[in-house]
Amino acid sequence: MPSAQSPPVHVAIIMDGNGRWAEDRGLERMAGHAFGVDSVRSAVKAAMELGVRYLTLYAFSTENWNRPSDEVDALMDLLVKSLAGEAQELAKKGVRLRAMGSLDRLPQGCRASLAEAEAQTSKCDRLNLTLALSYSGRWELVEAVRQAIASGVDPKNVDEDSIRALLAFPELPDPELLIRTGGEQRVSNFLLWQIAYTEFHFTSVFWPDFRESHFNEAIEEYNNRQRRFGKTGAQIQRTSS
Ligand code: IPE
Ligand code: IPE
Ligand code: MG
Repeated sequence: MPSAQSPPVHVAIIMDGNGRWAEDRGLERMAGHAFGVDSVRSAVKAAMELGVRYLTLYAFSTENWNRPSDEVDALMDLLVKSLAGEAQELAKKGVRLRAMGSLDRLPQGCRASLAEAEAQTSKCDRLNLTLALSYSGRWELVEAVRQAIASGVDPKNVDEDSIRALLAFPELPDPELLIRTGGEQRVSNFLLWQIAYTEFHFTSVFWPDFRESHFNEAIEEYNNRQRRFGKTGAQIQRTSS
């Protein structure tokens, strides 16, 4: 039985399919990444129009460091150029941009552009845009365990809240909805802790083709899901009526 949801507060997206989009057109994989920047703009616009407060985009995974170095270098260049070109516009719209991941692995130029974009948008709070960069869910959990051990935490005090407090951005609410473009139906090491009860929307649309209408379709599908959190459907209907 479908049930209407409140709009999601946090939407996460695995932006996949750039390479295949380009290859289908006889272009270099990099062309797909470059066109994907327009899709980021569309996702930000759609999220803001729907009143989504947190948008988290998987831009580069820990495992993506294993790609050919020319693709990695070109992606880092694209990141620098995009940040320089977009930060002012994001600030005008009220978008706060932050990057989450093992940022010390990024080239110095990237870290500098990120720091600048973060500073330029730090006062904004209409939409919190998080770029997961050099990020993986396992990296985040390993870092959390390291911090816990280093601080000498008493095992008796370890619970879900204390683990959450050690995540990269503890203040991010768990995403209600995770969208993955590009046709694959897997998590690829994204937000492993946070997606315990997240709804998934998989689409075969390649990321460079992703537009507001696709975002809205995902939200519509989400609105027709019944989230049960381990309870029975009857229990959920009783509490929602
Ligand atoms: C996603 O697109 C972007 C990154 C992982 C950086 P891909 O580059 O993975 O594109 P496909 O999946 O090979 O088509
Ligand atoms: C996931 O895409 C990572 C990002 C979108 C940044 P991948 O293309 O790296 O995932 P796999 O290798 O197909 O699982
Ligand atoms: Mg891919």
